Amino acid sequence: MYKTILLKKEPEHKIAWLVLNRPDKMNAINSQLMDEMYRVLQEIEDDKEIWVLIVRGTGEKAFSAGADLTWFEGITPTHARDLASKGHTLFTQIEKLRQPVIAAINGYALGGGCEIALACDFRIAAERAKIGLTEVNLSLLPAGGGTQRLPRIIGIAKAKEAIMFGRRYTAKEALELGLVHKVVPDGSFEEEVRSFALKLASQSPIAVKLAKQCINQGTQVPLDVGLELEAQAFGTLFSTKDIFEGIAAFLQKRKPKYSGE
Ligand code: COA
Repeated sequence: MYKTILLKKEPEHKIAWLVLNRPDKMNAINSQLMDEMYRVLQEIEDDKEIWVLIVRGTGEKAFSAGADLTWFEGITPTHARDLASKGHTLFTQIEKLRQPVIAAINGYALGGGCEIALACDFRIAAERAKIGLTEVNLSLLPAGGGTQRLPRIIGIAKAKEAIMFGRRYTAKEALELGLVHKVVPDGSFEEEVRSFALKLASQSPIAVKLAKQCINQGTQVPLDVGLELEAQAFGTLFSTKDIFEGIAAFLQKRKPKYSGE
């Protein structure tokens, strides 16, 4: 049982929901939430029945308002550095998860909340959401990977403006920036996220996993190394049952039924 995270699995649909659950504190991230999230992610990684993970905040108001600011009162520089490293480990665990991860941004995603979303593969925002790396407004800086992931996602010039001005964007502005993939009406948010997740879960989980790895690793290395990764992944696919199911289904004009093997 977890206190600051709710985990709802729907194995019949191959999806799971990881819900940040500190509603009275706008789902702010504290030590307990980080520890519990780490354990939940490990559980999901090992669960062969789950092919897509959705991360959201409890309630309608916040995805997460970032690091719990009471944490920072009187901490030493060494402790602060350790905290940043712990955040890096956790958010990289999201990024490297076997399954694709959707950030369902149901409300405020500020500071560390935005950084969780940046580590996910997809970001879908409700119209009411407000998103940004606002740490500099408090004389902090994004230390959950934000200074590194945001420029990689939206480009250096736009990331500098977002971070140094501590800009808080509306969902529509975030879409224009390329910070989110999609904005959906508040009233149909859950339905739209679910439909996106189910479509993703109908793909071959092995092809999706390998494509995710190729993109994530390939963008950090020279092109020739990335191409070699891609060739290896392509070879690996031909040791699976699902590739033959995908091709057979196409030839037989039917929908594929993947097993994840
Ligand atoms: N850390 C700790 N507590 C937080 C928090 C955070 N990051 N964000 C919100 N809370 C708490 C508030 O202190 C308040 O607690 P209280 O009821 O005990 O006083 C509760 O959550 C509700 O927040 P409140 O500010 O009253 O709600 P609001 O609707 O007026 O504003 C936000 C919502 C998200 C705009 C506002 O809370 C905010 O700006 N939070 C900080 C965001 C931020 O700077 N994050 C970066 C952190 S590095």
